[in-house]
Formats: sequence, C-alpha cells, structure tokens
Amino acid sequence: MIKLIKPYISFEEVETEFKEIFESGWFTKGKFVEEFREDIKNYTSAKHAYLTTSATTALTMALKALDIKACDEVIVSDFSFPATANVVEDIGAIPIFADVSLETFNMLSSELENKITTKTKAVIFVDALGSPDGIHEIKKICQKHNLPLIEDGACAIGSSEFGIRCGNIADITCFSFHPRKLLTTGEGGAITFNDNKFVDFFDIKLNHGAVFTDGKFDFVDYGYNYRVPELQCVMGIKQLQKLDIIVKSRNTTRDIFVKAITPLGFEVQKVSSDIIYNVQSLVFKVPSNINRDELVSYLKECGIETTIGTYCLSGTTYYANKYNDVQPNAMHLQDNTITFPCYDGVDIEYIVNTLKLYK
Ligand SMILES: Cc1ncc(COP(=O)(O)O)c(C=O)c1O
Repeated sequence: MIKLIKPYISFEEVETEFKEIFESGWFTKGKFVEEFREDIKNYTSAKHAYLTTSATTALTMALKALDIKACDEVIVSDFSFPATANVVEDIGAIPIFADVSLETFNMLSSELENKITTKTKAVIFVDALGSPDGIHEIKKICQKHNLPLIEDGACAIGSSEFGIRCGNIADITCFSFHPRKLLTTGEGGAITFNDNKFVDFFDIKLNHGAVFTDGKFDFVDYGYNYRVPELQCVMGIKQLQKLDIIVKSRNTTRDIFVKAITPLGFEVQKVSSDIIYNVQSLVFKVPSNINRDELVSYLKECGIETTIGTYCLSGTTYYANKYNDVQPNAMHLQDNTITFPCYDGVDIEYIVNTLKLYK
C-alpha cells in the first residue's frame, strides 16, 4: 500500500533524550517542554508561544483569550476540519460560515465583508491544507473593522505569506501536531501571538488558574491542564530542526506530481507566488466526469491510499441541521477534491499510470 502519510520522525532520533527522560523520571513541565516552546517561538518569530494538547484546545483558548461569549458571532472559513467551527459552538457563540475560493480554497474576502455584522466578535481564517494564501488581505479587513483575527494554522507550520511565517501574521495562531501534520508529537498543538496583553491570560489559564507568589500557588482563577509531556516535546524539537528541508522536499514532489497529472484533467489547489507552502496535503480537484468517491475506492484497490480534500463545515449534518446555511463552493470542494500522498520516494509513476487506466 502506498500510504497517505509518512511521519518525519524515527525512534533513533529521539532515543537518547527518551532515555534521559526515563532515567530522570521527569515526564512533564521540564526542559524539553521549555525548549520546544522556545523553538516554536523562534521558528515563527512570534513574541509568545504556548504549547497545548491539540489545535482544538489551542483554538478554544484563543476564543477565551478574546473573551468570545455566548451569542457572539465568529466568522469561520467553511472549508476545514469541523474543529474550526466546533470550538465556536462549544462556547455558545455562533459560527458564521464564510465561503472559500474555488482556486485557493481559502476564505473569500468578499464573503468576509458581507458577513460582518454588529454581532461579529472575531474571525477564524483557516490555512486550507496548510496554505495561508490571502491571509494578509483578510487581516486588512479585520483591522478595518477592528476585529481580532485567529489563524487556524492547524496544518500550516512551515508556511508563510510575503515572507512572514504562519504564527506571526494573525492576532493569535493555533497549530496542530496531530500525526496527519508535517510535524507531529502524536497529539499536540501550540498558540502563538505578539500582543503582551494575552500573556497573563495564558500563563494563568493554562496552569489551572494559578499564579506562583511568595513560594506558593495562589489559584486566582479557574483554569485548565492542556500540557504536552516531555517525550512528545522531544519529537517536536527534532522535527522542527528539519522542517524547512521537509517543506522543500514536499514542494519538489508536488511539482513533479502536478506536471504529471494536470494533463489528466486534475487541477491542483492554487498557491500564489507570495506563499511558501508546506504542502501539508497535496489536493487536486478531480475532472468533472469523475466521481471522487469511486476514484478513491479504485485507487485503494490498486494499493494507493488517498482521501477527500477536507470538509464543508456548513454542510456537515450537525451544522446543516442547525443553521441551514450551506456554502456552495466549500460543498463543491468537499465533494470533488482528492488528497494524494506527497513525500520523498512516493511512487508517482505508479500513481499516474494507475490514474491513466481509470475508466
Ligand atoms: C484546519 C484544522 N483545524 C483544526 C484541527 C484540529 O486539530 P487537532 O486534531 O490538533 O485538535 C484540524 C485537524 O485536522 C484541522 O485540519
């Protein structure tokens, strides 16, 4: 089977540090947590970074940091993983679905402008499949309307627009380190931002509501434990060191792939020249005469693992039933996109020949 994902980490790379952790018996809140956090900060050039258990917990904390409350409206990109809207729903706020470009798959600025109301309190822009294409334009609109911008950069570590890395563009950025991502800690996430005004909030809330004064903890608020253990942080540190090389190599594979299957009618997600794209997922629109689900099944029978692009949030059963506001472009992309494996050594020739035989 040609697998969709290949993790960029081996046991040999972490063995020494894992041994050190086991011998010390110090499994959390140690030097590797601090090192990984510092590395994320330095890599993104953000002023502040915090680690979390996932992008979902990171996004939830971002909304709380911005004091988003029940009945507030939060505009979200509609082509994403459901977590993007779920975090809004979970705090009782209302996700307003903004449709996306059929080329870049990212939030349309016209959609954002149209959907801003007096109830809008924040915007969540998703770097679709890792591409931040258009985020600066969205940021400008947010600034014009005095709205905070959260970047759902779950897929986007290693990407940038205009030379500015994801993590240092929006007011708050949230990353995921799930195994589907380029950099994985098994599960995990991070929050980055530049504004000092959020520091106390995250310091206290991510530490059970505690501050440490006069040699003891004082629980001045209620809070959470979204910590990442030492072992996982070692994995993160090792992958971050080689992330730029990984991104380069995935772009090389992407270029070969695009050249080979564009003549078959597949249209790749457009990424502008201002973008460095990490190629988190190599996604194509399938030709109009092809049924995507049947193609995925055929490829599976031929030993090639593929999947859909991602989801139209407004079209999922829950959100469609509740809000009845399905966005046409996001729906079209959900039904007509396919993700191919994209890593060094993937047998592109076999995949292309298999596609050529598909009737
Ligand atoms: C765009 C997007 N946002 C949020 C998430 C949730 O990430 P996590 O699994 O780390 O909570 C994902 C996961 O795939 C995602 O793709």
